[in-house]
Amino acid sequence: MLACALAILRGMTVLVTGGAGYIGSHVARLLLERGSKVVIADDLSTGIPSRVENLEHVALDLAAHDAVETIRSIIRAHSVDSVIHLAARKKVGESVDLPEWYYKQNIGGLANLLEAMKAENVNRLVFSSSAATYGMPDVAACSEDMICQPINPYGETKLVGEWLARAAGRAWGLRVVNLRYFNVAGAGWDDLADTAVANLIPIAFAALKAGKAPIVFGGDYPTADGSCVRDYVHVHDLADAHLSALEYLGRDERKFDTFNVGTGQGSSVFEVLDEIRRVTGINFDKVVEPRRAGDPPSLCADVSRINSELGWHAKKNLAEIVESAWAAIS
Ligand SMILES: NC(=O)c1ccc[n+]([C@@H]2O[C@H](COP(=O)([O-])OP(=O)(O)OC[C@H]3O[C@@H](n4cnc5c(N)ncnc54)[C@H](O)[C@@H]3O)[C@@H](O)[C@H]2O)c1
Repeated sequence: MLACALAILRGMTVLVTGGAGYIGSHVARLLLERGSKVVIADDLSTGIPSRVENLEHVALDLAAHDAVETIRSIIRAHSVDSVIHLAARKKVGESVDLPEWYYKQNIGGLANLLEAMKAENVNRLVFSSSAATYGMPDVAACSEDMICQPINPYGETKLVGEWLARAAGRAWGLRVVNLRYFNVAGAGWDDLADTAVANLIPIAFAALKAGKAPIVFGGDYPTADGSCVRDYVHVHDLADAHLSALEYLGRDERKFDTFNVGTGQGSSVFEVLDEIRRVTGINFDKVVEPRRAGDPPSLCADVSRINSELGWHAKKNLAEIVESAWAAIS
């Protein structure tokens, strides 16, 4: 099975959009490690040039009006046979303020990509979706068959992206795996840290480096310790899930599938802060402020489908996530 998976990946040439980003750079490096050829398309809007400087890379805004022709020429020049589409805007607050731009960027960019793939007969796609598609679920673990009710334009663009890919499957045979990531954190390599300071662990590290106490929003949720619970998945495990998805597309004839990517285990904000105290050796206080609108008390993945269909399991735990994230920014 492993030899077969490696053989499939070795024969592939993969276009990784958003490959200069935090997750995309991990995906690209793991693909190269496992023997695939990789070409990256990224406009470097939030991506970091050093992450792609030694790789095949084309600077391109996928949502630009002339992007289809450029994507087609990349596909032809590199004989691309599969695409992993990570390039997207991902700031929830910004998406609330700029919904038209988020739809143009995230849906317009995907539409251009699919038009180019169709024209060049490339029909395998792994799409970066998100647990934000679920909205405010009132369940212990989200399963892929639940009704999705995203509560902000960012989450909507992920759900609409899944629908667009499904429609392309029906119309011209695109085969797609949507991966709904839960809370991605950690670093697979020390030079690929999450530098965005948008998620709990980087935010807490930034506060500590500034000599401040991390702020926690809400300590009165109906959870065991009162803080929000999330499913933290190590970025290296997540990157590996993309390779499992590609390999699945290489061997299975199914047209459209959606998988959660998480550990199936929740950790509370207070538990994460305890882990950060242990790893950093800094004995800090926290500041608990009122709840933020739109934060579900608990958001965890049911991972039974990805376990059974892709044979993928998260290997790394919260301690390894925090340790690797700290090492990468220290
Ligand atoms: N980080 C998370 O916790 C998380 C959770 C769920 C889903 N996701 C999704 O994963 C993907 C990658 O996220 P990330 O955390 O690596 O973010 P990131 O900002 O580090 O990476 C996104 C990359 O896409 C590029 N990009 C953005 N818009 C583009 C466009 N129009 N054309 C070309 N390039 C463009 C950026 O320059 C950047 O390199 C996104 O689709 C995001 O929505 C991330």
